[in-house]
Amino acid sequence: MKVAVLGAAGGIGQALALLLKTQLPSGSELSLYDIAPVTPGVAVDLSHIPTAVNIRGFSGEDATPALHGADIVLISAGVARKPGMDRADLFNVNAGIVRNLINQVAKACPDALIGIITNPVNTTVAIAAEALKKAGVYDKRKLFGVTTLDIIRSNTFVAELKGLRPQDVEVRVVGGHSGVTILPLLSQVKGVSFSEQEIADLTRRIQNAGTEVVEAKAGGGSATLSMGQAAARFGLSLVRAMQGEAGVVECAYVEGDGEYTRFFAQPLLLGKQGLEERQSIGTLSAFEQQALEHMQDVLRKDIELGEKFINQ
Ligand code: NAI
Repeated sequence: MKVAVLGAAGGIGQALALLLKTQLPSGSELSLYDIAPVTPGVAVDLSHIPTAVNIRGFSGEDATPALHGADIVLISAGVARKPGMDRADLFNVNAGIVRNLINQVAKACPDALIGIITNPVNTTVAIAAEALKKAGVYDKRKLFGVTTLDIIRSNTFVAELKGLRPQDVEVRVVGGHSGVTILPLLSQVKGVSFSEQEIADLTRRIQNAGTEVVEAKAGGGSATLSMGQAAARFGLSLVRAMQGEAGVVECAYVEGDGEYTRFFAQPLLLGKQGLEERQSIGTLSAFEQQALEHMQDVLRKDIELGEKFINQ
């Protein structure tokens, strides 16, 4: 199993690389790429950790040496938010970065599963899909927007509020990955009930949790460590599913069948080829149903922005 991390010298990339170096199955290869010249050094640093995961680092303009033979590519390259910015403000810079990297993935490892972390995810996944399509290698089972941070945040906040062990809570989060498009399905959390006020407050907190970090870091960036953990969880789930483990389910943002917007985050059964089956989002409460309807215009516009970026 070979996993490549693009943007590996960044805040998320380094945390993710550390977790993968310690948690990938023995015999795996971990390949780090970033334009930053420090990247081979990050790999040397991590290589001193005694696990049977072979690690190499690459820098410069060309990502292909890092990509050859990759089974999974996780992309966190790009700029992050500063206070006062929302994820859409990142579009101008990150759209071009994602297109450029995806074009290289399309050439070097067209069969790889791809996880897009770079924001705005609602749009960068559409960019990646259109770029892969242009290159003639798009397979919608293999492209994922990584929304796992919304899930782990939800698990933490619900556990905090209800006095539960965080590891016992699993919240499904559907829709997209920004503001009102983030919809935690709190009505489906097993063994707990919430008042209407709690639902409203918790939903808002989960939707704005990224901003909580951006403001607390006061200009020093956005979530990196919790995102590293989230991306590692998602990446390791892909690895387990590719290796034949049954019943691996994660929520992520993928191309659907048009029931909602073109791309939509929902629970997915993962398999050897990536997405095996999109699972139903289940029965929604009236609050959730309304939120679902309300978000779709926003999501549709975010997606169109990405489609136009590639096809104009
Ligand atoms: P960072 O600034 O610490 O790291 C970004 C890295 O990307 C840098 O090392 C930079 O050299 C590299 N980079 C820039 N252009 C590149 C290119 N063309 N090729 C290769 N590498 C390139 O940023 P951080 O905090 O790691 O965030 C990365 C991205 O992840 C941001 O877009 C951020 O908004 C997003 N993010 C996504 C989340 C999610 O839930 N999906 C959560 C938090 C952040």
